[in-house]
Amino acid sequence: MTGTLDKDRPAPTPAPASAEPLLVADQVVVEYPAKGWRKAPFRALKGVSITIGAGETLGLVGESGSGKTTLGRAILGLAPVTSGSVRYGGRVISGLDKKQRRALSSEIQVVFQDPYTSLNPAMTVTDILSEPLMVAGTSRTEAERRVKDLLDQVRLPADAGQRLPREFSGGQRQRVAIARALSRDPRIVVCDEPVSALDLSTQARVLDLFVEIQERTGVAYLFVTHDLSVVRHISHRVAVMYRGEIVETGDAATVTSTPEHPYTQRLLLAAPVPDPERQAARRAERRRLAEAGEPVDDSVGSVTDSVGSVDTTGAKGDPA
Ligand SMILES: Nc1ncnc2c1ncn2[C@@H]1O[C@H](COP(=O)(O)OP(=O)(O)OP(=O)(O)O)[C@@H](O)[C@H]1O
Ligand SMILES: [Mg+2]
Repeated sequence: MTGTLDKDRPAPTPAPASAEPLLVADQVVVEYPAKGWRKAPFRALKGVSITIGAGETLGLVGESGSGKTTLGRAILGLAPVTSGSVRYGGRVISGLDKKQRRALSSEIQVVFQDPYTSLNPAMTVTDILSEPLMVAGTSRTEAERRVKDLLDQVRLPADAGQRLPREFSGGQRQRVAIARALSRDPRIVVCDEPVSALDLSTQARVLDLFVEIQERTGVAYLFVTHDLSVVRHISHRVAVMYRGEIVETGDAATVTSTPEHPYTQRLLLAAPVPDPERQAARRAERRRLAEAGEPVDDSVGSVTDSVGSVDTTGAKGDPA
């Protein structure tokens, strides 16, 4: 699956040499205030720098608690940036006030992990999708036309508009969340584990949808996951986060097959493979790394690793 998709994907249009990438995080530090008197704040990001070009997907992997969501939230203006900056189109957007930030909401959007809590259960899908449009001044008729178009883009039936979120499966709800993120033609979407709550075949189809939308619209993604096979499937480049720092970045194929940093090597070795002999060899290699003094984290890479083996080539068009 991975090979076919990656091969078929056009390379993102390169930005003009002089222009800054679409999004730049430059030495971003995020500190959360500590609970308790006189305690030092907790530094969740320790000077993180990444860039994302127009139409590009940067996959962000790392173990639980490494700071992936925090970086996404810093980009969205939802986490306190203590020092460093986030720039969008060359303009500093960290530290904007609410009103200035709202003006950016058409350009920078988000899809969260949990399709069960991220949609208002009392609103129909049409209302969920037309709300951001009407807030931005679109007329009702125009908004309704746009909603039909959005449902079509995420491969949901036209009558989905009259239904409530609870009347859909998890995969379909995530399609609604994607449609909502797309409603105002954003240039970048922060996707925070958007397929982690879905079963494997649904994951593969929703990932295909992300790729398809990017090919059509040229949107960029920061794609957060703790799953190397998901990241390999969708990303142009990958950044690996470990304890609040980026420890490795590079093109997706290289980082996910021959990583340089010991943490990424462990992450890769922790992902099960279908072949028992290779699996045994990898276990031995992990033990060797552990004995060499590198702590081995069993929680990483173990959740949805086999997504890479699901064949999605014929799966398009059938909404998950
Ligand atoms: N609002 C907050 N206040 C205080 N500490 C926080 C807050 N949000 C996150 N943290 C801490 O910051 C660190 C990074 O958390 P973050 O949610 O960014 O990790 P993550 O990489 O997204 O993990 P996961 O894979 O589990 O989603 C964690 O130690 C977490 O406990
Ligand atoms: Mg997270």
